Amino acid sequence: MDSTDYLKSHIRTVPDWPAPGVQFRDITPLLQDPRVFRVLIDTFVHRYMEPSLRPTVVAGLDARGFIIGSVVAYELGLGFVPIRKKGKLPFTTVEETYELEYGSATVELHTDAVKPGDRVLLIDDLIATGGTMMAGARLLEKLGAEVMEGAAIVDLPELGGSERLRASGLPLFTLVNFS
Ligand code: PRP
Ligand code: ADE
Repeated sequence: MDSTDYLKSHIRTVPDWPAPGVQFRDITPLLQDPRVFRVLIDTFVHRYMEPSLRPTVVAGLDARGFIIGSVVAYELGLGFVPIRKKGKLPFTTVEETYELEYGSATVELHTDAVKPGDRVLLIDDLIATGGTMMAGARLLEKLGAEVMEGAAIVDLPELGGSERLRASGLPLFTLVNFS
């Protein structure tokens, strides 16, 4: 089994959660098994150790992006900045509102989280409509940083998010597709 199939085999599909018609792709089994978790993290770390793809900071999207993003940042010897759902960050923030596969949300970023000239790796667990990652990228760009790549474990290509993100000019790296 190659590493993509290995990772995919540890993602659980929960039908009709959190709403009827949604096939929820649950990454918790993947995190729970230490060998699989290591393969996952090492795959990202290996890619971003490459000098031409090396970020200056890692940003993670609330909440599952924190799990992956903070470990990748630690392994790369970089700082981690959280992009949080509205109302959680205590200092001054910039904010963006966007639509989700189910509902809408607003995300925020501390105004001192990144600076002009930063090359940010933006990490989440999954891309559905792409709204979350697009909002995160906009926040980072508002503060003058460059988003060098968006990365996620799972892409749901049928929802069009990854295509939309790439069309907007954001390079994307994902490991597993579910159609
Ligand atoms: C999920 C997922 C991504 C986002 C993807 O997060 O973790 O962040 O949805 O959807 P999109 O591409 O359509 O924007 P959710 O908002 O469910 O929050 P959680 O991580 O707190 O569970
Ligand atoms: N976030 C948005 N859509 C999702 C899905 N189908 N599975 C897991 N997380 C999601």
